[in-house]
Amino acid sequence: MSQQQKSVTVIGLGPMGQAMVRSFLKAGVEVTVWNRSPEKAEAMAELGATRAATVAEALDANEVAVLSLTHYAAMYDVLGPVTDRLRGKVIANLSSDSPGKAREGAAWVRSHGAEFLSGGVMSAGDDIEHPASYIFYSGPREVFDEHARLLLPLSPQEYLGADDGLAQVFYQGLLTIFHPWLLAFDQATAMIAKSGHDIARFVPFAVRSSAAFPHFMQEFSVANQNGGWADVASLKMMDAGAQHIIDASAEVGVDATFSRTAQEYWRKAVAASADAGRAVSPFELLRDGSPAK
Ligand SMILES: NC(=O)c1ccc[n+]([C@@H]2O[C@H](COP(=O)([O-])OP(=O)(O)OC[C@H]3O[C@@H](n4cnc5c(N)ncnc54)[C@H](OP(=O)(O)O)[C@@H]3O)[C@@H](O)[C@H]2O)c1
Repeated sequence: MSQQQKSVTVIGLGPMGQAMVRSFLKAGVEVTVWNRSPEKAEAMAELGATRAATVAEALDANEVAVLSLTHYAAMYDVLGPVTDRLRGKVIANLSSDSPGKAREGAAWVRSHGAEFLSGGVMSAGDDIEHPASYIFYSGPREVFDEHARLLLPLSPQEYLGADDGLAQVFYQGLLTIFHPWLLAFDQATAMIAKSGHDIARFVPFAVRSSAAFPHFMQEFSVANQNGGWADVASLKMMDAGAQHIIDASAEVGVDATFSRTAQEYWRKAVAASADAGRAVSPFELLRDGSPAK
C-alpha cells in the first residue's frame, strides 16, 4: 500500500462489516463508515469510526472502500445513485455471491472508472480474528498488491488470480462443504439428544473422527481428478448405511430428510452404474448430470 493509505471506508455494517471496522480500528486504520440502517453506523462511531452522512461522503473520504453487503445486488443499490463518485476509487467487495455476479459487478465498477477486487471471507462465523479465518481475493494482481497492506487487518490473505470470479469460486466451494456439514452435525446431535444422551459427551468423538477428513479429502482429490471414486459394492454399502442413519433418526423422531437426499445419490450411482455397465461415481453424476457410457 502507498505510504499515505492509513484510512479506509467500510460500507455495510452487518455482523461482518462491524467485525471489519473493529479490526481496522484496532490496527490503527482510520475508518469512515456508511450503512443503510443508520443506527449501526452510530454504534461504530462510538468505537471511533467516522460516520458519513451519505454514500457519496463515504466514497469521497478514502481511496479504498470495502463493501460488506448481503449480496452483489446491494452494491448496485448503494453505489448506483453515486457512480459519479467512483472514478479513481478502489472498491473491494467482500460480499458473498456467485462468481458470475462477482464478474458482472467487477465490470460494472470498472465501467465507472474505479478499480475492483473481489473477496470471499472464509472466517469462523464473524470472528475474523480467529486463527482459522482468512480471505480469498481475486482481481488484478497489481491492485491487490497495492492495497494488500491496508486490507491485512481483516484477516490473512489468499490472492487467487486475475479472474474476478475466482475468490467466489473457492469461497462457494468451501461453503458447499460447510452447509451440509452444519446440518449433518445438527441432525447427529439431535439424534443423540432425542436418544436421551448427552451432546457434550458425543462431540469429542465427532471431533476425533473428523481428524480422518483431511485423509479422505486427499484421497478423493486424487480420485475426483480421475473421474471420481466408484465401486458398485461400496455404493450399495453406502445406500444401506444411509438407511441405518434414517432408521436411527426415525426411531427417535429426528428429521432424516438430509440423509434421504444423501441416500438418493448412492442409489442414483448404483442405477447409473447398472445402465452404463461400469461403476459410476456420485462425483461424475454431480459433475455431468448423467454418465458417459
Ligand atoms: N456473518 C458471517 O459470519 C459471515 C462470514 C463470512 C462471510 N460473510 C459474508 O459477508 C457479507 C456480510 O455479512 P453479514 O453477516 O454482515 O451480512 P448481513 O447481516 O446480511 O448484513 C449485510 C449488510 O448489507 C446491508 N444491505 C443488504 N441489502 C442492502 C441493500 N439492498 N442496500 C443497502 N444495504 C444493504 C445491510 O444493511 P442494513 O443494516 O440496513 O440491513 C447490512 O449492513 C455477506 O455476503 C456474508 O455472506 C458473513
